[in-house]
Amino acid sequence: MSKNVLIMAGDGIGPEIMEQAENVLRFVNEQESLGLEFDHALVGGASIDAAGVPLTEDALKLAKASDAILFGAIGGPKWESLEIAIRPEKGLLRLRSEMELFGNLRPAMLYPQLAEASSLKPELVSGLDILIVRELTGGIYFGQPRGIRTLENGERQGYNTYVYSESEIIRIGRVAFEAAMKRGKKLCSVDKANVLEVTELWREIMTDLNKEYPEVKLSHMYVDNAAMQLIRAPKQFDVIVTGNMFGDILSDAAAMLTGSIGMLPSASLDKNNKGMYEPCHGSAPDIAGQGIANPLATILSAAMMLRYSLGHGATADRLEAAVSKVLDQGYRTADIYSEGTQKVSTSQMGEAVLNVLKSS
Ligand code: NAI
Ligand code: MG
Repeated sequence: MSKNVLIMAGDGIGPEIMEQAENVLRFVNEQESLGLEFDHALVGGASIDAAGVPLTEDALKLAKASDAILFGAIGGPKWESLEIAIRPEKGLLRLRSEMELFGNLRPAMLYPQLAEASSLKPELVSGLDILIVRELTGGIYFGQPRGIRTLENGERQGYNTYVYSESEIIRIGRVAFEAAMKRGKKLCSVDKANVLEVTELWREIMTDLNKEYPEVKLSHMYVDNAAMQLIRAPKQFDVIVTGNMFGDILSDAAAMLTGSIGMLPSASLDKNNKGMYEPCHGSAPDIAGQGIANPLATILSAAMMLRYSLGHGATADRLEAAVSKVLDQGYRTADIYSEGTQKVSTSQMGEAVLNVLKSS
């Protein structure tokens, strides 16, 4: 059965890195007869320029009809003076909410070959490979009531509500257990169950779900300890599952452990594992148009897409292995360059990945 991939390159370096990812995808599609079909749509500033809005109804329709979206990056100085409601970022936010992409998968991995380029102790982070599963559409960022109110004594008070319903916890839990099954079968659920009732429920439900996935070794950790452990000994983790706010903070911290923003992919999934895949970085206006951006985060996002939304896990493994191989071969874009390696352009990096795939 054929599957549809919608490609949304966006702004800045988006089109440059996407060209390489699309070449790689098209190549494995043909080589392995995966039956993928590709569509393209504008998003962000590019869509504002062409149609006046960051996401057109047509583009949204295409997105909803597709099996997966590969997304580049959006935004840039050109559109920063626009009012918030019609800025490029709105296109991305609208896609996430309209498609109910509640499951955010953020791997933090550091290829051993890049340990030298990292500013952190190599023995601590070399070969790091963890996946943070963050709930993306609920929790305290969305809970009602919220606001700033004036109390009887005239003092103002800000308030937000941390809520998760059982069904919300179950669905993110399933995403995490499924991901753990596809990886090292080790899952750490992060909460603050000693203080917050909402996460007491979270912990209870994760424990219950474990019965459906008996092969997964589940542990629980308080978020303050998790923050400490992530910095102290990050390699103890395989998959981490947590709520929206804790996940926001922990995933940024984990990303920094790898020190290479040009290497980090991400996924946002709905309840049917339909999803949107994108590099963690933005549109990098400072280097756009120069042909020096690192396309590997986007290529690795395509690998995640093959694994989680398109049912081609083996091809995903091949793509990831090819990325590792080009690093072995010494190819580096400027952002991951270190002495003794070979500096290459965006397109040369894409071609290096293709060459490995052609010969494997
Ligand atoms: P950024 O991630 O675009 O850039 C941060 C730094 O990392 C820059 O020095 C950039 O050159 C470098 N960098 C990023 N990706 C790279 C790559 N693939 N290869 C080599 N170097 C890379 O973040 P920044 O500068 O805060 O934001 C720039 C624009 O991107 C803004 O308009 C922002 O709103 C937007 N943005 C969009 C995101 C998205 O589309 N999901 C996410 C984050 C920011
Ligand atoms: Mg964040």
